[in-house]
Parts: sequence; structure tokens; C-alpha cells
Amino acid sequence: MSTAEGTAGTSGFVRVAALGELEEDAPRRVEIDGTPISLVRTEGEVFAIHDICSHANVSLSEGEVEDCQIECWLHGSSFDLRTGKPSGPPAVRPVPVYPVKIEGDGPDAAVLVSITQES
Ligand code: FES
Repeated sequence: MSTAEGTAGTSGFVRVAALGELEEDAPRRVEIDGTPISLVRTEGEVFAIHDICSHANVSLSEGEVEDCQIECWLHGSSFDLRTGKPSGPPAVRPVPVYPVKIEGDGPDAAVLVSITQES
């Protein structure tokens, strides 16, 4: 697993990957200004969710993706990639999700994330 690092520009959106680098349902951890983010390409979209579970300090990018949710491997709570809300305990608090923009076409298209605008 590799890590990309970006620095927030004035628009707030930072290029974190090329679309072609993201495999379907294989989360990829990136960082923007030290904030860990799990990028997930699934169901024809790319989602950005805070990489740390709201229950304990566990990296969500090491979990499985299914039905637009990412599962925390430690205790099994799943988080909705669109809202960050957990589907059930032990996690009860949502994790932040961030807006994603795709610029360009094909595998070289830029995947941009803004952590200044939680969605
Ligand atoms: S650490 Fe994620 S559900 Fe417990």
C-alpha cells in the first residue's frame, strides 16, 4: 500500500491520486496535511472518508468494502461511504467524509479531495 501526500491549495481541493491507481473496492490510504484519508473506488464513484475508525485508532483502509460501506476490521462496524455513519455498534459516532472531484478522463484523471469542506 502506498501513501500519497498533498498540500491543500487555495481551492481546498488537493490531487491525491490518478483514477487509474485506484482499484475497485480496494481502499487506498492517502494524507492531506497530515489528515489520513481512505480513498475508495466503488460502484462507479470515488469516495473519501476519514481513515480512522470512530471507535478506536484503527485504519479503515485496511478493511473490506461492500455495498458502499467500509468495514472496520477490528470490531466489525461498517461506515457508509456517502455519510460516514456507522451501520451498527460498537462504533456509534460517524467519521468525516470529504467531497471528491475527478478532473480529466481515463486512467490519468486526477482524483481531488477537499478536507476543508466536510460533506
Ligand atoms: S475499532 Fe473500529 S469498530 Fe472498534
